[in-house]
Amino acid sequence: MAIIYHEESKSFHLYNRFISYIIEVMPNGMLKNVYYGKRIHDRSDYSYQGNDGFLMHGVCSVDGGLALQHQKQEYPAPGIGDYRESAFLIRQENGSHISRFLYSYHTIYEGKKPLENLPATYVEKKSEATGIDIILYDSLTDTDLVLTYTIYEDLPVITRSARFEQKGEQTIVLEKALSACVDFPDKEYEMVHLSGAWGRERHIKIRKLEEGTQSIDSIRGVSGAEHNPFIALKRPHTTEFTGEVYGFSFVYSGNFLAKVEVTPHEITRVILGIHPYNFAWPLKKGDSFQTPEVVMVYSEEGLNGMSRVFHELYATRLARGTWRDKERPILINNWEATYFNFNEEKILSIAQKAKSVGIELFVLDDGWYGERNIDDRSLGDWYPNPEKLPHGVSGLSEKIEAMGLKFGIWIEPEMVNKNSDLYRAHPDWLISTPERYESMCRTQHILDYSRKEVVDYIFGLLDKLISESKISYVKWDMNRYMSEAYSRTAKANMQGTVMHRHILGVYNLYERLIQKHPDILFESCASGGARFDPGMLYYAPQTWCSDDTDAAERLKIQYGTSLVYPVRSMGAHVSAVPNHQVNRMTSIDMRASVAFFGAFGYELDLNTLSEEELNRVKEQIEFYKKNRRLFQFGTFTRILSPFEGNTTCWMVSNEDATQVIAAYYQVLNVANGPWLKVKLAGLKPDTLYQVSYEDKQYVMYGSEIMQIGIPVDRKEFTKKGDFTSILFILQAKKGEA
Ligand code: GLA
Repeated sequence: MAIIYHEESKSFHLYNRFISYIIEVMPNGMLKNVYYGKRIHDRSDYSYQGNDGFLMHGVCSVDGGLALQHQKQEYPAPGIGDYRESAFLIRQENGSHISRFLYSYHTIYEGKKPLENLPATYVEKKSEATGIDIILYDSLTDTDLVLTYTIYEDLPVITRSARFEQKGEQTIVLEKALSACVDFPDKEYEMVHLSGAWGRERHIKIRKLEEGTQSIDSIRGVSGAEHNPFIALKRPHTTEFTGEVYGFSFVYSGNFLAKVEVTPHEITRVILGIHPYNFAWPLKKGDSFQTPEVVMVYSEEGLNGMSRVFHELYATRLARGTWRDKERPILINNWEATYFNFNEEKILSIAQKAKSVGIELFVLDDGWYGERNIDDRSLGDWYPNPEKLPHGVSGLSEKIEAMGLKFGIWIEPEMVNKNSDLYRAHPDWLISTPERYESMCRTQHILDYSRKEVVDYIFGLLDKLISESKISYVKWDMNRYMSEAYSRTAKANMQGTVMHRHILGVYNLYERLIQKHPDILFESCASGGARFDPGMLYYAPQTWCSDDTDAAERLKIQYGTSLVYPVRSMGAHVSAVPNHQVNRMTSIDMRASVAFFGAFGYELDLNTLSEEELNRVKEQIEFYKKNRRLFQFGTFTRILSPFEGNTTCWMVSNEDATQVIAAYYQVLNVANGPWLKVKLAGLKPDTLYQVSYEDKQYVMYGSEIMQIGIPVDRKEFTKKGDFTSILFILQAKKGEA
């Protein structure tokens, strides 16, 4: 068992060969964090470390001398002398917000328990992880607080969540219930996070910590494009390859808060969970509230080390189902090819061409249902438009399957337009506040998924659609943020539950659909990448990265996304030029060489390409099919960051680094530039590799490639102009592996 309990000192040591996480019950019964980081030797008692800080002016004490303001705590309480962000807030019937949760007992067990109705990482065998529930108790309100920790056996990963269980007679109201808090003993860190907006999601931001708070959040009802539910603390000298980093990722798709607070005594608090905005959850006797999970990764091998762990965990122990371990099909999507302007004939002509170049799946995007010829109508009317599709979705899907392609379809099930049959029949199904203006976004509104009958109705429509047609893939979109959050049927005291219960409704619909149709590949989407979060990956193993399909822009988007999310979870397509988002011209080679590092596909009308371009597309598809396993299941390593300069480099390698594909990209051309040598990483130093790119061939030792670099003729490279790429193929020479 990877969790030791030292009875005498009341301390817990969660450890594996990489990490240690040590908790101690303080003399007054509250929980203290002794240490989190690289594995240290176990000992039976850490009390010689004493308590942090001492009493002085301006510091309150509890229990005869404990200065909570200075303690490194596991799940800090509000209002009792610790003035930092608390982990929870409970309003009691007398109006008090003071709680006192003290250690009661704990249980240590093999494996990992699922979180009811919530996405979470899991194990396949009990031996993969060890769990502990530490139960704290507030005797005045008669409430249990269960802090759950899981440590994975073979990964530097600890997951955390909290559950409140009300046993007492009074109804308490949880006004805040975060998932995890870690207090670090110093502040020598930089905070790394992923921020952006529509079309430029998940750009890497790095800032030095200073006294005070820095936080990212969403109160949009969805994780959002603005900030991803992820932060990391890295040492200032940590690079992609070396140095310590602690990653925190929140497995949830709704409102979140991720906050880093540094005290003047240089303790750094990291705290994450559901944002307390508009959150108030009553708990009467017998009720409980489970928070979502936070995944914590420690690495001393830089940001790449952290990402490798997130990739492995999320691709194999968060994503589920038939498609988790299967190679993803090369698809073509008609959105940028046609927008709303299509009919069956047009779709079939795109599909036919796609088939002829080797594409495997056709995806019919928005515009196939109701009267959806423009984006102000018909969301909610999930039945085909007979003018566009005279044989319905089922007829079209059969024709496409008969061509030898699989068929996929776009839906946006959480939404409704006022101009729809659904709204006319159920105007009160919207999330909106009575007698207040109903803000619009893309002329649409959000259905109230906190209501079971709404979820049931949409399930019925979608189940029918999927059951009646030959559907292999579903692109599940979500194109607006929540406003005026209010449920027409919830009582006043339940309105603070609506935003979270809405997300539970979304998860419920996903779960029912994937249980009923387990072979469908789901791809989540939200105006591009506005809901690229771990919660979604539990249901849909891939996510549309961004509506911005420009190759140069995608370098930043995909590089940033890869900090947490695996390559095969990132939908990445080759689209038309001039690019529809930035009007930029890039070559078909550049576009494909970026999209290869993702769940690869096309998003254009192939009928408009020249013969020469079509031939290139054919070659790209052959190349991708040959190397698909490597791209989608290999180890991804970032080498050069687009956030630091004009070039980007990244690579994928198989398990024993005998096969590698690396890409080097240059955004703007450089006159009379420096000699160009492309250095890679993670190769076997003493192995000879056959290195090929374009018409060049070299035989080089791994160590040469890593230390000297693959030579590129700058003069030749310069002839290519702006927005260029080189793909390097490395194969360990026979007998060398
Ligand atoms: C969103 C998606 C796009 C496309 C459109 C359709 O913007 O991100 O890929 O599906 O909706 O309306």
